[in-house]
Amino acid sequence: MLTVEVGGDSAYTVEVGSGLLSRLNVPHKQLALIHAEDLPPEFVAQVQAALSPTLTVTVPARDDCKTLGVLAGVLSQLAAANLSRECAVIGLGGGALTDLAGFAAASYLRGVAYYSAPTTLLGMVDAAVGGKTGVNLPEGKNLVGAFWPPKHVWADTDTLATLPPATFREGAAEAYKHGLISDPSLLERVLSPDFAPGSPVLPQTIADAIAVKAGIVTRDLTEQGERAYLNFGHTLAHALEAFTDHAISHGEAVGYGMHYAALLSQAMGGADLTAHTLAFLRYQQPRPLPPLTFEDVWAYMARDKKADAEGVRFVLLRDLARPYLARVPEGVLREAFGEWVEEVKAIADAHPPPPSLPPQGGGA
Ligand code: GLY
Repeated sequence: MLTVEVGGDSAYTVEVGSGLLSRLNVPHKQLALIHAEDLPPEFVAQVQAALSPTLTVTVPARDDCKTLGVLAGVLSQLAAANLSRECAVIGLGGGALTDLAGFAAASYLRGVAYYSAPTTLLGMVDAAVGGKTGVNLPEGKNLVGAFWPPKHVWADTDTLATLPPATFREGAAEAYKHGLISDPSLLERVLSPDFAPGSPVLPQTIADAIAVKAGIVTRDLTEQGERAYLNFGHTLAHALEAFTDHAISHGEAVGYGMHYAALLSQAMGGADLTAHTLAFLRYQQPRPLPPLTFEDVWAYMARDKKADAEGVRFVLLRDLARPYLARVPEGVLREAFGEWVEEVKAIADAHPPPPSLPPQGGGA
């Protein structure tokens, strides 16, 4: 078992390894376990056997759980079970589930202890660490929420064996992003055949990817500065998710968005890192995008990062592990978009996705 320490005012430990779910231990007498309805029942059974929770709450799968309605239902169940301020909530599932469960913990009785047990790669390397919790509104994603760091995170890598391969590769986008912005050793390791469920080196690679985010959120929990670097690739990604009405997943959108951000980085005078971002897209084999014009994504990008006369704010890279924030003029955005469209189309043509990709998933 490996550990990653997250520091700051609310320090906690992330454990990464095999067999963790059956060894969970928390010091609270009252405990609410929250999981999504599509979670394999053996994981729920393991946690119930280890912790004997006071109640178990089942919510809809993926982003369908991240609504105010579902949150209200969860809070009512906690209240109906007379859980006191000394209780704890444990979220068991993917990124959407841990966002909801964390926010339920942040809201109930003005805040109770929260523990996170992510069961997807995206949940492990991104959503479960850093304390961002919340739900979506019809007007947009993550518009309601709180910074509510967990007391402890258990990333049981056995759970990854049940993920469809495409879902695993979606989560790989966030690990690869941590390689680009901070730890280039991750780039080769994420693309290696050893980055797969069951591989003996998988826990170390996941722990190293988590360590990048742990270091950043230790220094900047509330995104006053460098936490924004975690949004590398996310400006176009959010636009693609919105434009396609979430027909592509967050991880796929981030894969596409990282390549656009690499093209922008180069256009703004940085090193050419596009071989890395293209290699990731070849590995990930995302769902193809519908035909897109710059105008299709411009409104979303401008709204996402508040355009001004000098352009739209982007996270760019001067080189590997050298992120910075810059305003990118509309003309540069437009020209790079043309290149991006051609290059992602060439990849889609060369690597048509398998016909049976699972439904898209939620993400941080
Ligand atoms: N997923 C980006 C962040 O946690 O800041």
